[in-house]
Amino acid sequence: MASQIQRTHSILVIGGTGKTGRRVVRQLSSLDTEIRVGSRTAGVPFDWRDRTSWKPALRDVESIYISYYPDLAVPGAVEDVQELTDLAVKSGVRRMVLLAGRGEDEALRAEEVVQSAGVEWTIVRSAWFNQNFDENYLLEPIQSGEVALPVGEVPEPFIDAEDIASVAVAALTEDGHEGQVYEVTGPRLLTFEQAVQEIAQVSGREIRFTSVPLERYTSIMQQQEVPAEFVGLLTYLFGEVLDGRNASVADGVQRALGREPKDFADYARDVAATGVWNIKQ
Ligand SMILES: NC(=O)c1ccc[n+]([C@@H]2O[C@H](COP(=O)([O-])OP(=O)(O)OC[C@H]3O[C@@H](n4cnc5c(N)ncnc54)[C@H](OP(=O)(O)O)[C@@H]3O)[C@@H](O)[C@H]2O)c1
Repeated sequence: MASQIQRTHSILVIGGTGKTGRRVVRQLSSLDTEIRVGSRTAGVPFDWRDRTSWKPALRDVESIYISYYPDLAVPGAVEDVQELTDLAVKSGVRRMVLLAGRGEDEALRAEEVVQSAGVEWTIVRSAWFNQNFDENYLLEPIQSGEVALPVGEVPEPFIDAEDIASVAVAALTEDGHEGQVYEVTGPRLLTFEQAVQEIAQVSGREIRFTSVPLERYTSIMQQQEVPAEFVGLLTYLFGEVLDGRNASVADGVQRALGREPKDFADYARDVAATGVWNIKQ
């Protein structure tokens, strides 16, 4: 295992109130680090849409965790990452850890930006998160007992956001992760239907899963007045990325942390115990 950096240093966690960033902040708080939360509501705010906020947020920071919002696949994301990393290097940042999505061409371009910034870098290239089922767009359908998605039998190795955060924290605070691309996945392939059925079982619910054509899914989202940016993003993720290209497990968690990733069954059991899936919609 890599050794931990001994000196105190300052880390900016961009997206530090989000699914992975919140966990990165929590895990870092037990270490000897000064943490700055990159969020629009932080004391020193960080806003991707307001470039004047970037410089103050980067002041005296040595390392940054970059999780882009909403996704590296949206137009303008790569340019934002390019400008941010240029500014970060000028501000004295010496280490960058980028969260990227597996199988996304646009994310690859953002990875290249970070890799050529001229400072230490680590890429955490992730599978789809478990937390989409309880902290994101799949929560409401699960609570309502009806999940309709434009997916068939293509399996995905869902990963837990806690594992992603652990890999990011290792890369931010230990030596030995520089120049690594960690492709991180869970230990097991599951179709969306199988994942939903595991959730139904542990939460003692009946949840119906239906596979719908992509056009129908898009029009349902539009009727529900989901913002166009998200409709486009989900259409891209389900319509293009989920074509089987990511239907394999990878060993990034094992390589970075020397242990196995959390299984979906353990995630589902832990979340079921909170009762969140049993709240009626
Ligand atoms: N979901 C998946 O399955 C999956 C899989 C692979 C990769 N990814 C990647 O994960 C990344 C997202 O990471 P995540 O899921 O951990 O975050 P998240 O939960 O989607 O993001 C929420 C975070 O973004 C911040 N945010 C929202 N708008 C912002 C803005 N205009 N400026 C600055 N911050 C803003 C929020 O902070 P405030 O609201 O406090 O400002 C919050 O901290 C994406 O780039 C995506 O490509 C996701």
